[in-house]
Amino acid sequence: MTLADLNSRFGIADQLTFIDGPNGLVFAEIDNALGSAYICLQGAHITTFRPKDQVEPVIWVSKFAKFAPGKSIRGGAPVCWPWFGAHATESSFPGHGFARTVMWEVTHSAALPGGETEITLALLETEQTHAQWPHKTRLELNVIVGKSLKASLNTSNLGDTPVQIGEALHTYFQIGDIEEVQVTGLENTVYLDKVGEVARKTQSGAITFNGEVDRVYVDTTATCTIVDARLNRRIVIAKTGSRSTVVWTPWTEKADKMGDFGPDGWRQMVCVESANALENGVTVAAGETHRMTVEYSAEAM
Ligand code: BG6
Repeated sequence: MTLADLNSRFGIADQLTFIDGPNGLVFAEIDNALGSAYICLQGAHITTFRPKDQVEPVIWVSKFAKFAPGKSIRGGAPVCWPWFGAHATESSFPGHGFARTVMWEVTHSAALPGGETEITLALLETEQTHAQWPHKTRLELNVIVGKSLKASLNTSNLGDTPVQIGEALHTYFQIGDIEEVQVTGLENTVYLDKVGEVARKTQSGAITFNGEVDRVYVDTTATCTIVDARLNRRIVIAKTGSRSTVVWTPWTEKADKMGDFGPDGWRQMVCVESANALENGVTVAAGETHRMTVEYSAEAM
């Protein structure tokens, strides 16, 4: 669909416009009285979100992000699907699945009575996606931009046998400084520590950061809060249909190797990912839809 077609079918005056971005990527630009956001049609990737009452965005995107066809964008809210992390058996398949790097199509938009803007995107199946995922599924992301950001990742099994998925909304949150934040909500929760020798541990107290953190917390449906002493705010991350939470920060060495954080960019972000990973992978029965939803909001402290 051309930009003109997108705007005439799904554009909403004073709220939603489709625009050309770098390297031929197309973005939905949402700006209403309550909040603003950009969503890249490649990957259905929300790249940033800011409630109007916040000076700083709630969702971080790297100033050095590479916006390129077929490449994942550093920052925002990448959709990891239909597996999380490395593929179980095929090492040549992309980490975190293919959903974040393939094209999606817009299927719906609406101006909601409360002033929010709603948009729905569906993953476009191609020979490339079928080669890595032969199952009959439909994946949709529904996003509502208002004072908070709501997103629902919906996996429908259109086949006649059960399908097993792993998934995450791998969201990068904007913070003042990684050394001055705490993440609460995961106290006493078991996690897989992926830094160094992989080990299962139990969280004691709030999470604080003074080095690389790469943890998959399992069997948790808890709301998490990023308590940010530098920006004097809390970001609240509520979720449903998700039984894992991933907490990740690369720290200096790893961020430098990744090449798209820029100098010290990693200090202003922390990933708190609502997920179904490891033993929390989801089996979607034939004919059923599994929904994982999140709501991100920010409040002053
Ligand atoms: C996290 C993983 O979810 O994503 C980390 O737990 C990984 O191990 C990180 O490094 C970033 O992944 P990517 O593929 O976006 O660079």
